[in-house]
Amino acid sequence: MTGQDYAGYLRLERLLSLQEPQYPAGDDTATGSAELFFIVAHQTSELWLVQVLNDLDAATEALVCADGTGTPDGVEHALEHLGRAVAVLGLLGETVRLLERLPVQRFAVFRPRLGSASGAQSRNFHDLEVRMGTADEGESPLYRAFLKALAARGTSVEEVCRLGAAGAGAAHRLAETLLDLGYRFWQWKVNHLVLVDRALGGLSGTGGTTGAAYLVTRARMPFPELRSARERLHRHEADT
Ligand code: HEM
Repeated sequence: MTGQDYAGYLRLERLLSLQEPQYPAGDDTATGSAELFFIVAHQTSELWLVQVLNDLDAATEALVCADGTGTPDGVEHALEHLGRAVAVLGLLGETVRLLERLPVQRFAVFRPRLGSASGAQSRNFHDLEVRMGTADEGESPLYRAFLKALAARGTSVEEVCRLGAAGAGAAHRLAETLLDLGYRFWQWKVNHLVLVDRALGGLSGTGGTTGAAYLVTRARMPFPELRSARERLHRHEADT
């Protein structure tokens, strides 16, 4: 038994001192509550992004080391991390939907306080785009590790898709989990776009972009090769 308690272990004193609406308290409690809601939604999103990045990096490392000889194989480790990242990304998408409960009349009151602050400046989200391969920095390190793990097992994306769950086992679960991850990421983008359109209509963003119109151009689907491998299955069926 240690003298550690709940608040100490979780550093709650620091964590719970960081929700500070700028809207004057007592002045208009409904706007203060709405701003608190806005802050908590963003702060929790940033915290969950820390977890997603951690799991994606751990999955990448497990795949890089997956030569098919270890027990258990690195692919199983990667699946544990990727499954969690998929679930957390889903929660992030729901958090964005939750913000549809932000009344636009209240948002309009405190929005000028944001100045030029914008989610587009989120370092964690940018790092997530890099992991997913949708940033300008190039291809996904996670996807590269996935291809390497398949090569170590003597198979390819094409073959895994063709053989399906019964024929390709863990490699197929891996491909499907990456696809789930890509779609959860995309779903976040779509939910966020809908939220922004509801909240701002055609207005520009605080980050200086055209807002919803800009976000439409940002909704790129990760792992396009996985998508086209599935597409080719249809052509194959049509040819036989
Ligand atoms: C009422 C709530 C929200 C509004 C009105 C809003 C608005 C916007 C707008 C207009 C942009 C485009 C950039 C700009 O000019 O500012 C943007 C980008 C972004 N926002 Fe939000 N946002 C909201 C909630 C959130 C939440 C909860 C997150 C979670 C972290 C978030 C993260 C981001 C990210 C990562 C981008 C860049 C997206 C990309 O490049 O695809 N936003 N947001």
